Amino acid sequence: WNIKGYQQDLLKWYDENKRDLPWRRERDPYKIWVSEIMLQQTKVDTVIPYYNRFMKFFPTVQALAEAEEETVLKAWEGLGYYSRARNLHKAVKEVQENYGGQVPAEKEEVHKLSGVGPYTAGAILSIAFNIPAPAVDGNVMRVLSRIFSIYDDISKATTRKRFESIVDEIISKENPSHFNQALMELGALICTPKSPACLICPVQEHCAARAEGVQELLPVKAKK
Ligand code: ADE
Repeated sequence: WNIKGYQQDLLKWYDENKRDLPWRRERDPYKIWVSEIMLQQTKVDTVIPYYNRFMKFFPTVQALAEAEEETVLKAWEGLGYYSRARNLHKAVKEVQENYGGQVPAEKEEVHKLSGVGPYTAGAILSIAFNIPAPAVDGNVMRVLSRIFSIYDDISKATTRKRFESIVDEIISKENPSHFNQALMELGALICTPKSPACLICPVQEHCAARAEGVQELLPVKAKK
């Protein structure tokens, strides 16, 4: 398996095919953070207008930290899962108080923030700071389970850890930001849960599931 070839094919495809999303025009870690929290349980198309409105109301860490919780929840109305908004508000106050309003660029510090789990921490570090950290969510586990023909149950916490180790090995050290976003974009546009578009996939040559014809059987998710 050719890591460099895989990285190159994936990054080239991302460069030519990525969607123009509002948070992709930004490198401000606060804005990346908000987008990732919104995207956790909500689809991209739904998030876009909320994200844009939220940034008008609260363009900076300071603006959000100083807002009343009621105002923040009002701006979140329609997105649901309000604990996301409450945690974000709390965490932004932590950043304001403990880091002078600058989102920290260290893994240990980012992890401490309310509502920031391994996925969100990795997304902030890689996308905003270009630090090679894995950002493994369900989409990324689907893509990687197919690339490497991995049958581990993706609903188990240990499986996410295994995929994080894999990303640690294969992530582009030159462009971790685009590499992680390319994995997400591949999962959204090509390597979809049903009927993945393998014929137009930029990394089909590197895909074990495709070679074995088992792409529709992966990932494995135990029924609850
Ligand atoms: N889903 C989660 N994070 C995303 C991102 N940064 N861009 C598009 N879809 C996503």
